[in-house]
Amino acid sequence: MPRQSISVVQVADPAAAAALVADEIAQLALAQRRGGSALVLGLATGRTTTAVYEALAERVLARSLELEGAIAFNLDEYCGLSASDPRSFAAWMRERFFDRVGWPGERTRIPSGLAGEDCERHCADYEASIRAAGGLDLQLLGIGRNGHIGFNEPGSARDSRTRRVRLGPETIEDAARDFGSAEAVPRFAITIGVATILDARRVRLLAFGEKKRAALERALHGEISSDCPASFLREHADLRVYADAAALGQSLPRKASV
Ligand code: F6R
Repeated sequence: MPRQSISVVQVADPAAAAALVADEIAQLALAQRRGGSALVLGLATGRTTTAVYEALAERVLARSLELEGAIAFNLDEYCGLSASDPRSFAAWMRERFFDRVGWPGERTRIPSGLAGEDCERHCADYEASIRAAGGLDLQLLGIGRNGHIGFNEPGSARDSRTRRVRLGPETIEDAARDFGSAEAVPRFAITIGVATILDARRVRLLAFGEKKRAALERALHGEISSDCPASFLREHADLRVYADAAALGQSLPRKASV
């Protein structure tokens, strides 16, 4: 059922949101360790989340965050790119975070862009490994201009799971800057599903800048439907949105904490 109120936190800038998210992750990691279990994080790539990895790396290096035993599952990867391709999300994560904090490869999972004919099995295995790890304690998300979360493009079902998807025109256009041209952007990707995201125990969605305003407005106040996959997040019991004034625009927080 849709929640009565959404926790929307207006922040000054991405660094302010990153500090709050990184502090929450540090507290969760500590609580999990004290409880004898490992933290399981769902991670996103992209400009929105870059500051979060900065903040997390700072905390690891300052020893206020201990990731030993923790497991990360990334949301998505482009089909056709190997993990060593500098344009892959795998390389992006290694460069900005995993290598900096020495988080070993066997505990940082990301869908393979080279699953090819085995794609269906690979996706089922990815879902199974999230379940085997005990499920995601916290899923970090950005939002696409078309309302996507992960690469769950408009049309993605509420009950969708990890699968191969065709990327929409806005997503290709936005990725063009990372590939040199729109033509060079892969047309397909593997993404975890909407249902996989909703299964996470906590969801933290970040959105900054005017370009995200319309998508965030639909996600927070529009109809809950596949037309805007991020709108399904309103059915989650522990969703928190961190956004700046430009992204919030008309959709001023109904329940702001900062
Ligand atoms: C990235 C991902 C995407 C991005 C979204 C926002 O792994 O799954 O959903 O979070 O496209 O991208 P940026 O942050 O670059 O605007």
